[in-house]
Amino acid sequence: SSNESAAGIAHVYRGTFVHATYHTAVEILEDRLLGVDTEGKVCHRRKFSIHFNFVVIVVCSEFFMPGMVDTHIHASQYSYAGTALDLPLLQWLNMYTFPVEACYKDLEFARNVYTHVVKRTLRNGTTTACYFATIHTDASLLLGQIANDFGQRALVGKVCMDTNNFIPHYKETPEESEGETKRFIGELLKKKYPLVRPVVTPRFAPSCSAALLGHLGEIAQNNDLHIQSHISETKEEVKLVKELFPDYDSYTDVYHRHNLLTDKTVMAHGCHLTDGELKLFRETGASIAHCPNSNISLCSGMLDVRRVLNHKVKLGLGTDVAGGYSPSMLDAVRRTMDTSKALTIQDTQYNTLTFEEVFRLATLGGSQGGRLVWKGGGGGGEVEGLLSPSLNQYINDQIHDDL
Ligand code: GUN
Ligand code: FE
Repeated sequence: SSNESAAGIAHVYRGTFVHATYHTAVEILEDRLLGVDTEGKVCHRRKFSIHFNFVVIVVCSEFFMPGMVDTHIHASQYSYAGTALDLPLLQWLNMYTFPVEACYKDLEFARNVYTHVVKRTLRNGTTTACYFATIHTDASLLLGQIANDFGQRALVGKVCMDTNNFIPHYKETPEESEGETKRFIGELLKKKYPLVRPVVTPRFAPSCSAALLGHLGEIAQNNDLHIQSHISETKEEVKLVKELFPDYDSYTDVYHRHNLLTDKTVMAHGCHLTDGELKLFRETGASIAHCPNSNISLCSGMLDVRRVLNHKVKLGLGTDVAGGYSPSMLDAVRRTMDTSKALTIQDTQYNTLTFEEVFRLATLGGSQGGRLVWKGGGGGGEVEGLLSPSLNQYINDQIHDDL
């Protein structure tokens, strides 16, 4: 309804609402009202009862639910989603991923794939996505523009990497990476897209020098920006990080000591984190993007989500296209259940996740993890946007007679 809302018509939606809160994993509210103001923002129930110029939309046999938040997806890898899943992570990156990502130097190639991925994820119910693009600044800016044009809330990351022994033409110097990240942030913010923000994106420790990690931590800190990367996805990768960064306590410590663990950080995977590392996540407020399809497809590991939640670390779900073959968050929900049940097969005492809990992770969990959904739509209003996953304070529990 965003086009009509832009034209200045307020709406009230009447029907069944299914959503998640901090107290209740799934709450079902039957025959309720939700108001959306003339700017397309959900309005507080105290307010919309005094609006008279609205259109009322009644939905009977269906229900409303919050948009889903994909906390980790590589927009640039959408072109080969569903193929090339026959190698473990580090070989997979060299053989398939880096050669494809190098193509995004070509803006028309980028425009084609980025248009498809934004349309497809929206159609699948992803109203907020945290995207990795590629090292190319202009193509990454284009992804931001496309997300804005289609009305998707997006965190867009220009990928940073100054190490690549396999495809030497797909990397930057540390100076280029730092300079281009600053240009990317500056130019994206200048566009003032209401729903799109830049996110500082070191690819992962094995692709970045300590100097580059330090620059990126500083940029994020100086501009209060979100940060995203990968961590402890496979055992081989953890071993490699130990070799590359021998003076650090752990993989997590590598990011922490470069100021890359904050309460606006989203780290993908985390399958092999120790208790000590999870404690550091908890202390810094950093969150984990659980990507079960990818973890299984690349045989990386099985994240024990229950253990992460017991550590009170924030967690959302991600598709991790193209390590994960599906761009759908409903698939991420199913794969999260599957992984939890596989862990239960291994240990019958395991506290299996419930479907309701996983629904919450796909919606509220994603917005909380890394604080991906922010207040307002650029206007600085007091209420969160229409896409906010926690709707409870906006849903009216009384049906007005005049509706
Ligand atoms: N680690 C570093 N880069 C990547 C990537 O593109 N995909 C996945 N799944 N893991 C990574
Ligand atoms: Fe990834």
